[in-house]
Amino acid sequence: MKEIAIVILAAGKGTRMKSALPKVLHPIAGKPMLHHVIESARAAKASRIVVVLSPEAKEIEASIAAAYKDVKIAIQKQPLGTGHAVLAAENALKGFKGAMLVAFGDTPFIRPETFHLIAGALSQNNVAVLGFTPPDPADYGRLVVKNSQLEAIVEAKEATPQQKKIGLCNSGVMGLKAPEIWPLLKKIKAANSKKEYYLTDIVGIVRGAKGSAAVVEGCAEEVLGINSQSQLADAEALMQRTLREKALANGVRMMDPGSVFLMSDTQFGMGVVIQPFVVFGPGVAIGDNVEIRSFSHIEQAKIGSGSRVGPFARIRPGTVTAESVHIGNFVEIKNAKLAKGAKVNHLSYVGDASVGEEANIGAGTITCNYDGVNKHKTDIGAGAFIGSNTSLVAPVKVGGGAIVAAGSTVTKNVAANALMKNEMPQFQEPGGASRLRKKSRKKP
Ligand code: UD1
Ligand code: MG
Repeated sequence: MKEIAIVILAAGKGTRMKSALPKVLHPIAGKPMLHHVIESARAAKASRIVVVLSPEAKEIEASIAAAYKDVKIAIQKQPLGTGHAVLAAENALKGFKGAMLVAFGDTPFIRPETFHLIAGALSQNNVAVLGFTPPDPADYGRLVVKNSQLEAIVEAKEATPQQKKIGLCNSGVMGLKAPEIWPLLKKIKAANSKKEYYLTDIVGIVRGAKGSAAVVEGCAEEVLGINSQSQLADAEALMQRTLREKALANGVRMMDPGSVFLMSDTQFGMGVVIQPFVVFGPGVAIGDNVEIRSFSHIEQAKIGSGSRVGPFARIRPGTVTAESVHIGNFVEIKNAKLAKGAKVNHLSYVGDASVGEEANIGAGTITCNYDGVNKHKTDIGAGAFIGSNTSLVAPVKVGGGAIVAAGSTVTKNVAANALMKNEMPQFQEPGGASRLRKKSRKKP
C-alpha cells in the first residue's frame, strides 16, 4: 500500500461559533472535534499526521500533546487561506513520498476508508478530490467536471451563475502527490475576492500542467463541516445516533435509545440493559449483565459485572465497583471503591471511601469527607452494617462486621464486629402528643 500522510487544517478563527473555546476543541460525544479527525487519520495508518494551527492556538496544541504523541504541529503564521495553510506543513513533511491527504479540523466524521479511497485514486491521478452533493450547495466550492476529469474547483464567491448551478461540491478533503506537488502549491496566487490563497486552485494548476484530477464521491453526512453551534448540535445528534447503533449492534439493550447519551469512549460488556434517560460522561466502562436504571448520570467510573445502578443515581469520577454491587435511588458516589456485593440503596452520599464486600450502607448515610479545606477518607470493612441516617465524619474507619446504629454520628474508628451507637436518651411522655396539640390550638 502507498504511504499516506494526513495534513489537518485547523488554523482558522472559527468566529461563527461565538465561543471563547477554539472551534476545533468543541466536543462531540465528549471528544474535541479535532481529535475525531486525528483518530480517523491514525486508524487510516497515516505514517505522518500534521495539524496546522495558528500561532495563538496554545490551548489546541496542549490538547493534542496530551492525547497524541505521534502528531506533529505546524504553525501557519497568518490565516492567508487553505493553500497557504498546506504550505505551512511542508517542513513537517520533509522527505515524505506518497499520498498527502488534506482534511479539515472541523469535519469530524471523515472515515479512514475514505482516506484510503482518495489515496487509491492518486495511483492514476495527480490530484483527487472528495466530492459530495449536499441538499443545498450554498457556499461550497463547485466541482467543474468535463469528460470525467476534474477541470477546476470554483469557490462559490467566484462562480458564474452557470457554475453555481453545479450540485457536485468540494468537501475540502483532497489528495495530492508528494513531493512533486510542493512546487505547484507555491504557484497558487491570492487572486480572488477574498485575497486568500485557495488550495482549490491547485486543481486548475495541475490540469494546466497536463496532470490529471479525479473526483471521489462521498456522502454528505461524512463531510459535514461545523461552523456554528447549530451545526455542532446537528453533529452531536448524528454522532449519538452512530454510537447508539454501535452499542445496540454489540448487544446492549436499550428500550429508548434516543434518550440515552453516550460518549465515544463508553464501554459495555455483554448483557447490559440501559433504561430510558441515562447520561454517560467520559471514561465509563460497564461490565457484563449490568442494569442501569432511568435518570442515572455516570462519568469516569467502572461498574462491575452484575451490578445495578439507579434509578436516579449519580456516579462521579473515580467510582469503581466490583461485581454485584447495588447503587440505588438518589445515591451519589464519588472517588470510591465498592467491593463485591456492597449495597448503597437509598439517599446516600459516599465520597472518598472504600466499602468492603457485602457491606450494607443504610438509607441517608453521608460520608462527611470535606472539612472545608481538605478531603478525608472513609473506610468501611467487609460485612459492616451502617444504620440509616448515619454521618461518617472522615477520616474514619468502620471495621469489618461492625454494626453502626441508625442515626449515629461516627467521629472515631469503630472496631471490627463492634456495635456502635451514640447514647441518646429517648424522652417519652405518655399522652404528651394530645397535651401539646391542645396547647397549640389555644394559641390565637
Ligand atoms: C473550503 C473550500 C471549499 C469547500 C469547503 C468545504 C477552499 C478555498 N475552499 O471553504 O471549496 O467547499 O471548504 O467545507 O479551500 N484554514 C487554515 N488556514 C487558513 C484558512 C483556513 O488552517 O488560512 C482551515 C480552517 O481552520 C478550516 C479549513 O481550513 O479547518 C477550511 O477553511 P474555511 O475558511 O472554513 O474554508 P471554506 O470557506 O469553508
Ligand atoms: Mg468551512
